[in-house]
Amino acid sequence: MCGIVGYVGKEQAAPILLDGLSRLEYRGYDSAGVCVGGDGALKVAKTKGRLSNLSEMTHGGGDLPGTFGIGHTRWATHGEPNDVNSHPHLSQDGRIALVHNGIIENYMEIKEMLLEKGVQFASETDSEVVAQLLQYYYRKTSDIFQAVYKVLHRIEGAYALGILCADKPDQIIAARKDAPLLLGHGDGCAFIASDATAIIKHTREVSYMEDGEVALLTADRIQVYNALGDPIEKERHVIDWEISAAEKGGYEHFMFKEIMEEPEALRRTIGPRIRDGRIELEGFSVTADTLRSMSRLYIVACGSSYHVGMVGKYNIEKLLRIPVEVQLASEFRYCDPILDEKTLVIIISQSGETLDTMAALREAKARGARILSIVNVVGSSIARESDDVLYTWAGPEIAVATTKAYSTQLMLLDMITLYFADLLGTVDEKTYRKLVTELQTIPDKLEKVLAQKEKIQYFASQYFNHDSVFFIGRNLDFALGLEGSLKLKEISYIHSEAYASGELKHGTISLIEDGTLVVALSTYGPLLDKAMSNVVEVRARGADVLALTTESGEEALAKNATGVLTVPDTAEMFLPSLGVVPLQLFAYYVALQKGCDIDKPRNLAKSVTVE
Ligand code: AGP
Repeated sequence: MCGIVGYVGKEQAAPILLDGLSRLEYRGYDSAGVCVGGDGALKVAKTKGRLSNLSEMTHGGGDLPGTFGIGHTRWATHGEPNDVNSHPHLSQDGRIALVHNGIIENYMEIKEMLLEKGVQFASETDSEVVAQLLQYYYRKTSDIFQAVYKVLHRIEGAYALGILCADKPDQIIAARKDAPLLLGHGDGCAFIASDATAIIKHTREVSYMEDGEVALLTADRIQVYNALGDPIEKERHVIDWEISAAEKGGYEHFMFKEIMEEPEALRRTIGPRIRDGRIELEGFSVTADTLRSMSRLYIVACGSSYHVGMVGKYNIEKLLRIPVEVQLASEFRYCDPILDEKTLVIIISQSGETLDTMAALREAKARGARILSIVNVVGSSIARESDDVLYTWAGPEIAVATTKAYSTQLMLLDMITLYFADLLGTVDEKTYRKLVTELQTIPDKLEKVLAQKEKIQYFASQYFNHDSVFFIGRNLDFALGLEGSLKLKEISYIHSEAYASGELKHGTISLIEDGTLVVALSTYGPLLDKAMSNVVEVRARGADVLALTTESGEEALAKNATGVLTVPDTAEMFLPSLGVVPLQLFAYYVALQKGCDIDKPRNLAKSVTVE
């Protein structure tokens, strides 16, 4: 979703803003713009389309001299993606400029009020209303800072704001509610940004803004104020990853790089959490008593993170014998969930900023539930508001389609499951030791899976021109199919569906005809025979079947499938950790064959910060 960057310092702002925006491109956007202040005026350049257009238009920022400014990549919500609706937005008198991420829910009512007072609007956006309202209050108060507070009291919804005022050169004002925004402390300069990738080239020291806070940035100082306008001290955090982690490093696509990084990412997730053959979870406060008093467990997330929860349900219920409800965050918050202080809610999010997931967390907390979150981005909103947080340590994930974050989330959830089973004594010592030993082999086994990439590319070249694909499987393979199907559709734009194999005969099988591609997931040993029967059924109706199974299942599947991919044998609970990688690669190679924009698929954003 929208990306924000702001700079105030001694250097020329525009090239720094353009570079920062280029590092936020991965968030997904359809237009971009910058505003730079200098000589008592604010100059805006903005355009629909790629950032390269903006860069060309401004000669790399050279046309916009000035040492303070704000930049924005827009993911359209209110008003089509065009030049006028792009940010920054100027107030009618051109003295105030603003960038916004989020949605102003009561913008129509404010717009009507301002229209009645003769204010003219240039765009259709909710964001411009904030710029015009700022002008309105600035004229009344003659104090831009006071005007900002008045605006914040008036608007409803979610926002991260970056504001410039021509009368206050060398200053940026930032404000946040329910949308990500951080402050960067540079040497003789200061930054605002939607995430650290935009500014890590310049500084590693950041402070995370909280809801209701307003910040005043000058080159030498960042002062933050709380919702009442009182100055407050903010903690500084040091970003501990290198800028190279957010660069392609010779790979054609971030997605491929991130798939290749999976074994290493898993080692980072697993390694530090195993001591003397036992799983230890840092600073984790859930006790055996808490677990025993728990009547049920919720897993709440969106998209691929939700699919991790779907796998987790099978494993947790099997090992802990506690009922698990997996819910989509966007549904959970509006379904009057049955929660109390005896409920544990596991929140899963790569970005830690997904708005629906964040809202679900707050809903659960308000009802007394205990929150454990699995998050990748350190210091993100979800991490900060949870009772316990466990980081996946996957490193920055740039491709919109998640790969290494999914795999590390899955592994961490498996580790939590084993940790809980050990605490509760629902798994015997021998089995526990065996599973902990086995999980440490997963990164190496994954290397073996990656070594089959040419074979996967071959199958992709056979099937890339299909316009409909079905992923079928039972139990853990069904949960795995949900992710395989999402991966394929989001980056290759091929329509695909994931079905529990047993459901096929209840309707979907009518869609199977000559040449339909069915990806039959058959890694789960106990149901291999059932999986085979489903393969035979769809083959009999003309489908091409690409099967995914374990090395020990290969011979059986090869008899009936059109093609077979394998993963090494492992304990059942870890099969999806291996099985997901061929599906990620398959989606990648299909999208590559089709010439799709793999890292930035159409209409999608990496971090979904609006409802
Ligand atoms: C998957 O490839 C997606 N891009 C998407 O489904 C993602 O998993 C979802 O938006 C949740 O994001 P989060 O993990 O950052 O909360």
